[in-house]
Amino acid sequence: MEQWTIQKLLNWITQYLTDKKIDTPRLNAEMLLSNTLEMQRIELYTMFDKPVAPPQLAKLHKLVKRASENEPSAYIIGKTEFYSLEINVNKNCLIPRPETELLTERAIEFLREKSETENKNENKYVCDLCTGSGCVAIAIAKNQPNTKIIATDICDAALTIAAENIEKHKLTDKIILLCGDLFEPLIPQLDEAKFDLIVCNPPYVSDEEFEKLDKNVKDYEPKSALLAGKDGLDIYKRIAGEVNNFLKPGAALMLEIGCEQAKAVRELLEKSGVFSEITIEKDHQNHDRIITAKHKS
Ligand SMILES: C[S@@+](CC[C@H](N)C(=O)[O-])C[C@H]1O[C@@H](n2cnc3c(N)ncnc32)[C@H](O)[C@@H]1O
Repeated sequence: MEQWTIQKLLNWITQYLTDKKIDTPRLNAEMLLSNTLEMQRIELYTMFDKPVAPPQLAKLHKLVKRASENEPSAYIIGKTEFYSLEINVNKNCLIPRPETELLTERAIEFLREKSETENKNENKYVCDLCTGSGCVAIAIAKNQPNTKIIATDICDAALTIAAENIEKHKLTDKIILLCGDLFEPLIPQLDEAKFDLIVCNPPYVSDEEFEKLDKNVKDYEPKSALLAGKDGLDIYKRIAGEVNNFLKPGAALMLEIGCEQAKAVRELLEKSGVFSEITIEKDHQNHDRIITAKHKS
């Protein structure tokens, strides 16, 4: 009987998913196989010749079939990696994207610099709007000491997975979750309602762009995490209108944007009259991706 080793399976699944026109087939093959064998992805490469037993092959077969029908592997195995942290995901939250790691990196750098120039031991207060799985808040809290974060999302089911992730990374003393529409759940008397940093990766897909999205995004990820009105700018407009009430002197607002939205979002922020300096940064694919706006004071 034919012996299926890890190497042979990896190659076979990669080819199968390539033929089915699935993106990043090798990465998907590694995710599905390592999950089935209950190992880390990197371990696959140290055990190339290990034979895989029939019950595991049967399990793998079902997972590969789902992936070949465009279901994202992160949803199939219930987790993904973000900023070198394992983040649980399900169909109620967006799968964290590599572009958002750039937003997170800038947020951490900003807080680090602020801590170095101000009192190092004083807490810095951060608001992560539209937190989804909680990935941004969690990566900031893990990497920047003396940070307290309020993370909000309108979707209760997304917050359930965010709570799971916060617990998993032992950050319950650093991150508070609130359910509601953007800033609405913050109660000024009760919460730290002025922040050193407000960070947000909002829904920003326009109606027209939505139709052109890949099937694995369009058919599986929550529409409420993607769509933001006809032009995709609904949430930016609201943030620009309300953010002034929530920023401390010297604070910053950092937003992820769609690659065509830099000009429009810059104009919205300029019109708000709240910011002295607005910069736009490109991602690794040379697309406009992060807007940082520094508060006037
Ligand atoms: C693009 S996802 C980002 C999730 C996560 N921050 C990330 O980067 O992976 C946007 C999130 O915004 C939430 N959302 C949509 N409209 C909202 C609103 N009006 N107020 C708060 N959250 C909202 C969605 O439920 C979703 O979890």
